[in-house]
Amino acid sequence: MTETWIIVGASSAMARALARATAPRSATLLLCGRDTEDLQRDAADLRLRGAQAVEVLAYDTRDPGTEAALVARAAALEGPFNVAVFAGAMPPQTEVEADPSLLAGVVQDNFTATGTLLLRLAPLMEARGAGTVVGVASVAGDRGRLGNHVYGAAKAGFATLLSGLRNRLGRSGVHVVTVKPGFVDTAMTWGLDGMFLVAAPEAVAKDILAAVRRRRNVVYTPWFWAGIMAIIRSVPEPIFKKLQI
Ligand SMILES: NC(=O)c1ccc[n+]([C@@H]2O[C@H](COP(=O)([O-])OP(=O)(O)OC[C@H]3O[C@@H](n4cnc5c(N)ncnc54)[C@H](OP(=O)(O)O)[C@@H]3O)[C@@H](O)[C@H]2O)c1
Repeated sequence: MTETWIIVGASSAMARALARATAPRSATLLLCGRDTEDLQRDAADLRLRGAQAVEVLAYDTRDPGTEAALVARAAALEGPFNVAVFAGAMPPQTEVEADPSLLAGVVQDNFTATGTLLLRLAPLMEARGAGTVVGVASVAGDRGRLGNHVYGAAKAGFATLLSGLRNRLGRSGVHVVTVKPGFVDTAMTWGLDGMFLVAAPEAVAKDILAAVRRRRNVVYTPWFWAGIMAIIRSVPEPIFKKLQI
């Protein structure tokens, strides 16, 4: 049986790169996102690249109805499936500081909605006794920085949920990979100041697929972010609280 991937946030450049990498292996792909017309164009391209079947499903983190439809579709899938969650959003920290009511939406997009979806898919995966969950968190979740701590807090929550899910689902043969990208060249980071060591989405997708194959638990991508974040985490709080990062 060929691999099946439910890709949540399928319009992300990283998600597109992952779909393109799996299509030639005759994968079955469910592309889930807000702009279904745009995803239909991806679907046509992926079929040409060798995907066995490609479906497009509406998914909006702010619309529980789309979540219910996605879970129902997953329940009807035959055999084990993989889920990769790329959906997320990063409004500027200054916007949330000006209007703190925005925090709830940031948590919804990066943690609550995607976390709820994974908790609903979990029993389906447990019942099938195989498959992989890929959850895209962020290095931003490793420490609350001046410039990005609302988004970072949501990603930290998501990463903690993934850690617990790994423990739970591992008991039934389902593996969970937590992905922590550094800076990646995507729509999310377009035009942002202060970016360095920016990775291509294709390189991130390659790292993700290698992590799935090797059943890695937590993967920083590109790899050197593991070292950078080890240093950042080790800075004593009295110093860290004065840094302008
Ligand atoms: N780029 C980086 O440097 C970086 C670093 C670390 C982690 N990440 C994480 O990597 C993931 C992919 O991000 P990206 O960099 O590829 O940026 P992106 O292109 O903005 O991708 C974000 C994805 O989330 C979707 N999304 C946003 N709001 C949504 C909502 N309300 N409902 C459903 N889907 C929604 C977007 O769909 P639409 O096309 O409909 O907006 C898009 O598919 C995100 O979780 C991001 O937090 C990115």
